[in-house]
Amino acid sequence: RGILYMKREHWGSQLAFVLAAAGSAVGLGNIWKFPYLAGKNGGGAFLLLYVLCLIIVGLPLMLVEILIGRTAQKNVVSSFREIKPKSPWFLVGFIGLLAGFLILSFYSVVAGWSLEFLYQTAAGTYWFDDTISEQVRNDKVAAIFGNFISDYHRPLMWHCVFMTLCIVVVACGVKNGIEFWSKILMPMLFGLVLILIARVYFLEGSGGGYSFLFSVNWKAIWNPKVVLDAMGQAFFSLSLGMGAMITYGSYLDPERSLPRSAVFVVIADTAVALLAGLAIFPAVFAFNLEPSAGPGLVFSTLPIVFTKMAGGRIFGTLFFASLLIAALTSAISLLEVVVAYFNEEYKMGRVKTTVVLAIIIGLFGIPSALSFVAPSAACPLGMSQMKIPFPGGAKTFFDLVDHMASNLCLPLGGLLMCIFVGWSWGKDKVMKSASQGAEWFATHPLGTIWFNLVRFVAPLIVTLVFIYSFKIISFTNEGTLVFFKGWF
Ligand code: TRP
Repeated sequence: RGILYMKREHWGSQLAFVLAAAGSAVGLGNIWKFPYLAGKNGGGAFLLLYVLCLIIVGLPLMLVEILIGRTAQKNVVSSFREIKPKSPWFLVGFIGLLAGFLILSFYSVVAGWSLEFLYQTAAGTYWFDDTISEQVRNDKVAAIFGNFISDYHRPLMWHCVFMTLCIVVVACGVKNGIEFWSKILMPMLFGLVLILIARVYFLEGSGGGYSFLFSVNWKAIWNPKVVLDAMGQAFFSLSLGMGAMITYGSYLDPERSLPRSAVFVVIADTAVALLAGLAIFPAVFAFNLEPSAGPGLVFSTLPIVFTKMAGGRIFGTLFFASLLIAALTSAISLLEVVVAYFNEEYKMGRVKTTVVLAIIIGLFGIPSALSFVAPSAACPLGMSQMKIPFPGGAKTFFDLVDHMASNLCLPLGGLLMCIFVGWSWGKDKVMKSASQGAEWFATHPLGTIWFNLVRFVAPLIVTLVFIYSFKIISFTNEGTLVFFKGWF
């Protein structure tokens, strides 16, 4: 290929890839959303369903993405061009780029919230003196989050800080940036969460938290809404559907074993989700607080817990540090997808590409940050009153971007990738490529099961989730089927 040929960067080891991919998967979704969903939907029963979804859709799709990337050794768009030249499949790559752009824009805003709480907890700003009653103190702590997001200075400042952190990591490249930081941050995240679990275990009255998370309420899983919640969570928690794993897979040497890596990533993601539950719920129960507060669980309820717990300031700081780490390693994977494409196709250089794209994405995130601000004379730009009409119900800018990415681009991308591998690429070529570095896979029943899951089962299930997320079908809390809820 002459002088123009530049060697593609590769991970230093299989472990490096697994840590980086696990870093992408383990994010805000694991630390607040999973525990809350599990609690809301019948604890152990939800867990069982979730694991089932991981096995029949999550793991197969994880392997699909890594396989596409490793085979093509290209960014999301060119990977499809490489494997199926002169076909429209590369458009799937553009759906991925769009999803990455949209998700990162609001993900960074939420990650900024964790920076604010890391700062406030470390500085001890919400430990009010006990001349005021306990109830008043609790209310004051819980109100910090609402007050913080309904102003724009600090959320925007942290949004900038967080995007800058992403730039620093991604601009340094795959090996010196993403791999270097994943190898430091991921073990640290595991360590921090384990310390937190150990601490809350010794709180008086923490036992309720364990039964809350693990008791099986069998009635709850007969609700189709719960099944679909589990499916959606499995899908999004693993960073599937937009080519994050295609991009990371494209930095793998061809002789690495794929099935094993995919299994490791799925196990690591699930482990952190469970560990987060084990760190959060026992503490919430020990202080008789509300376990199903959703997004407020982490930012309103937990700070109250920290004010009451011996050593709370230290453990609270460690908790928000974990949240920040989880968010950072996910955000860099989102940025890398877009940077890899523009860097390789337009050859602007990695640093310049990273800075330019991060600034554009950061600017697009501003209306998301303003979506919690009420318009007033002081904040004329507040957008909390601005509801954008959308089938299934009007949404704020923040919710709309989240919805477009998470509920439209990702399932569509995942569905098309399954169809690509299951029906278009050709079974022989797929199995040959998948078993490179893992020869047993070509003839083993697991290989056949995987291919059929990708061909038949996963597309069907993802289509169902898709239809559901657009409220073409939906279910009431009692499990009754409803069509086009809120559409007209
Ligand atoms: N998986 C991450 C989380 O749980 C979020 C995420 C990062 C993601 N990259 C992604 C989701 C790509 C879908 C696609 O928070």
